Amino acid sequence: MTDLADAVRLLYDTLLFIGVSIMYVAEAVVLSLIPRRFRGKNITGEVALVTGGGSGIGKLVAIKLAKLGAHVIVWDINEHGIEDTVKQIKEAGGKGCGYRCDLTDREDIYRTAKAVKIEVGPVTLLVNNAGYVCGRTLLDLPDEEIDRTYQVNILSHYATTKSFLKEMMKDNHGHVVTVASVAGLLGTYRCTDYSATKFAAIGYHESLFTELRAHGYDGIHATLVCPYFINTGMFNGVKPRLLPMLEPEYVAEEIVAGILTNQVNVVLPGSVRYLLPLKCFLPAKMCWALMYQIMQGPQSMMTFKGREVLQDQNANIPMTRSEKN
Ligand SMILES: NC(=O)c1ccc[n+]([C@@H]2O[C@H](COP(=O)([O-])OP(=O)(O)OC[C@H]3O[C@@H](n4cnc5c(N)ncnc54)[C@H](O)[C@@H]3O)[C@@H](O)[C@H]2O)c1
Repeated sequence: MTDLADAVRLLYDTLLFIGVSIMYVAEAVVLSLIPRRFRGKNITGEVALVTGGGSGIGKLVAIKLAKLGAHVIVWDINEHGIEDTVKQIKEAGGKGCGYRCDLTDREDIYRTAKAVKIEVGPVTLLVNNAGYVCGRTLLDLPDEEIDRTYQVNILSHYATTKSFLKEMMKDNHGHVVTVASVAGLLGTYRCTDYSATKFAAIGYHESLFTELRAHGYDGIHATLVCPYFINTGMFNGVKPRLLPMLEPEYVAEEIVAGILTNQVNVVLPGSVRYLLPLKCFLPAKMCWALMYQIMQGPQSMMTFKGREVLQDQNANIPMTRSEKN
């Protein structure tokens, strides 16, 4: 009797699944016909926090969100970078402020989050963007560098999200953005630490998404961003063979468009999505030959220089509020 009831239940769920799938495919087709600028949500009055907003992608995203009406908070260890981003936000007529927060220090994150809630208000759009790369092969990697990469690229996400998620859940309203990487979908030379943290960031993000959806928080959106190499300086010296480095302006524009349209995945460039399944379908030796002889992925990382001092330039400066709106 139980077996029959289970079978009927499975049949019912399957038919329901086919029904909603048809609906979702139709919805995706209709949406793809409407230009993106007509289907973006309004973010005026949202409180957006961008980690690593003192340079690169974080800076550009912060300025764009402010221009769209969000009150933007920038976190970084680079105080000059924070000041410059806040200045550009204000020059563009937006609202913004910055805090020095060291993401390698969990207590600093909790302390700064508390200050943000008191001084600005609950964060409704959290962009976990800050990133760090050392760029050495395993045996050359100092343990402290491995720790730092894990702290900035993944461990900090737990503390930042835990700090602001409760308020989002109370109103069933919010958005969490994780800036991961194509290196989180495919392991890369000189990236045993970096790549691993980006794989972790993807697992973290997707798991958080399932928790929110399973508990009915359909008003809290989650966008996962996986870009290929970008010309910000983080991967200075890298010379990719087939795909050119992405321009920061393009990446920031796509991230903001992904936020406005509540996109679940933003893979940049889009063509990478079609290459990745080859990893599962091709024989392993053929995959390696494709990577080494055609794409020359490892060789392109052999010339890596990266940023040299940026991450440490304010290392001993105590946390200060850079500017308040
Ligand atoms: N540049 C690329 O090729 C590339 C490719 C794929 C993904 N990404 C990812 O995109 C994101 C942005 O990278 P980017 O290219 O703009 O790099 P970036 O170096 O220009 O910016 C990273 C920012 O994070 C900040 N940061 C680093 N450590 C910090 C800490 N302990 N506490 C607070 N802030 C800290 C830096 O000061 C900097 O402002 C990162 O997560 C990166 O991993 C970059």
